[in-house]
Amino acid sequence: MSYLSEVLAFHASLLSDTARLERFRRALQRVVRPGDVVLDVGAGVGILSVLACEAGASRVYAIEGSVPVGIIEMLAEANGMADRVHAIGGNSTAIELPEQVDVVVADLFELFGLEQGLVAAMADAARRFLREGGTVIPRAISLYAAPVEAPGVHGARVGAWSREPLGMDVSPVRPLAANVLHAASHRSADELAAGERLARVPLGADGPRHVGGAASFAIRRPGVLYGFDGWFVAELARGVTVSNAPGSRTTRYRHAFLPIDPPQLVAPGDEVELEVHAWDGEQWRWSGRAGERTFDHATLHALPIAALRR
Ligand SMILES: C[S@@+](CC[C@H](N)C(=O)[O-])C[C@H]1O[C@@H](n2cnc3c(N)ncnc32)[C@H](O)[C@@H]1O
Repeated sequence: MSYLSEVLAFHASLLSDTARLERFRRALQRVVRPGDVVLDVGAGVGILSVLACEAGASRVYAIEGSVPVGIIEMLAEANGMADRVHAIGGNSTAIELPEQVDVVVADLFELFGLEQGLVAAMADAARRFLREGGTVIPRAISLYAAPVEAPGVHGARVGAWSREPLGMDVSPVRPLAANVLHAASHRSADELAAGERLARVPLGADGPRHVGGAASFAIRRPGVLYGFDGWFVAELARGVTVSNAPGSRTTRYRHAFLPIDPPQLVAPGDEVELEVHAWDGEQWRWSGRAGERTFDHATLHALPIAALRR
């Protein structure tokens, strides 16, 4: 597949997530005042820039690191906003703007909300470009997790490395697979206990590099604990949230699956404890206890193996 084909497919799917876009439109209409200057970080094809203009922005700086900016310009023109949308190619942390802005907006979500560097990108944009008293959208993000019985995703992503394709031993890769976050789409029915909030992270100039939190869960049915489902709830503006929680219809982003390996039998009443830490949304550690058994997984454990194999 060509690069452009991949980029277009990704953004076509983002544009088809109309519930998500409706939420951003509502937040922008609540926050942007006529004449405001807006910065759209990670503009994609520029949909949030167009929505910001629709909400009254006089100028929008649309910064995008991977989509050719000509696409943003074409779409701004097609929607009569060519004179208000200024597309800039590159990473937001490496660009300069000619003026301060009233609002910074970004959808840099992914599975567990932080993997695209949302906190750091918002902090950098707010510190360097947001005028005093300006507003960021989203203004906070919360991380949630639930213990799940997920034989399908565990088998496909972790267990697959214990099979012997045509007699070949591929098991040395299993620890790598057990120490990365995987994409999954869990349902509420997979949960062995109700989800709990691990952390709430305010976004803006003081956004932290380290995010951590813990929760404990009372198992409510017999089953096998394969790991944890992780999702986010983002507060876009007062009273407007988007989330990829199981059953939520406000975005179509998939969830994070944090495997434990090996899986663990659990029974009603067992207590499961989970602690999660993330550094810059890139390095993750999830550890805890399920009954008598402890587990400790981290992307750093996978790193030396990944580096050796490169
Ligand atoms: C999830 S997409 C959202 C696109 C668009 N804003 C939307 O809502 O449909 C995130 C986009 O942000 C870009 N991106 C992520 N971090 C960035 C950064 N720090 N600077 C510039 N672009 C960034 C990615 O290339 C990707 O196109």
